[in-house]
Amino acid sequence: MKKLYLIGNMKMNMTKSSLDPYFTELVKVAEKTDNIVGVCVPYVYLCKAQKMLEGSKVLYGAQNINEHASGAYTGEISASMLHDFGCELVIIGHSERRQMYNETDASVNEKVKVALSSGFTPVLCFGETLDERNANKHFDLVRTQIELATEGLTADDVKNIIFAYEPIWAIGTGMTATSDQAEEIISYAKDLIVAKFGVKKNEIIMLYGGSLKPSNAEDLLSKPSIDGGLIGGACLKMEDFESIIYQNVE
Ligand code: PGA
Repeated sequence: MKKLYLIGNMKMNMTKSSLDPYFTELVKVAEKTDNIVGVCVPYVYLCKAQKMLEGSKVLYGAQNINEHASGAYTGEISASMLHDFGCELVIIGHSERRQMYNETDASVNEKVKVALSSGFTPVLCFGETLDERNANKHFDLVRTQIELATEGLTADDVKNIIFAYEPIWAIGTGMTATSDQAEEIISYAKDLIVAKFGVKKNEIIMLYGGSLKPSNAEDLLSKPSIDGGLIGGACLKMEDFESIIYQNVE
C-alpha cells in the first residue's frame, strides 16, 4: 500500500467552537490509518490546534508565512511566531495568494527558503489557469513556477518539500483535473526536479489539489506519481475528509 499524504487546507473557514469536535475526531481518524494526515488552519486557530493536535499523529500548520524575520510588516506572521505554536507545515504559493495577494515566484522562493531554514515542511503549490491550459502553455508555466520556486535550494531541501499541483481551474470549482491530466503534470514536474537536483523520483513528494472529494479520491490517488492530496472544501466536512483519509491504494 502507498502511504498517502492527505492535508486539509481550511482556507478562511471554520469557527473556534466548530474546531473542538473537528480536531477531536481528526486525531482519532489519524490513529486508524497509516496515511499521513495534516491540516493547515487559519492563524488565529493555531493556538487551539497546538492544544488539541500537538503530540498526535495529525500534522498541523499555517497557510502562509512572511519571508522576513520581524519588523514593520503590519498584519503578517513570521517563522518564529509559527514556531511558538508548534507548526510543522506551512502552505506556500497557493494560487489564491498568488492571484489575490500578489505573491510572485520570487516571494514564493523567499518564503520556501525561510520555511525550510526554520524547520517547517513547506507545502509548495503550483499550477496553471484554464487559459494557460487551453493555450497549451501549462507545461511551460509549471516548469517556470517550479524552477523559480526552487531557485537556490539543495537536493536535501527539495526532499523536505511537499509539492502540490493545483490546477487553478479545478480549485473550488467542482471541476477536477482527470486523473490522467494530474498524473501527466505531476510526473513531468517530478522529472524536472530530478533533472535539476539529481534526486530520485521517489524521493519527491507531490500531491494533487483541486476539488478532490470522496467520489474522485481513489481514481486520483491511485495514480503512480500522485503521493496524496491537498484538500480544500472537502476537508471542512469531517465525513468527507475522513473518507479521503481512509483511502488505501496500491
Ligand atoms: P478545493 O481546494 O479542494 O476546495 O478545490 C484545494 C486547495 O485550494 O488547496
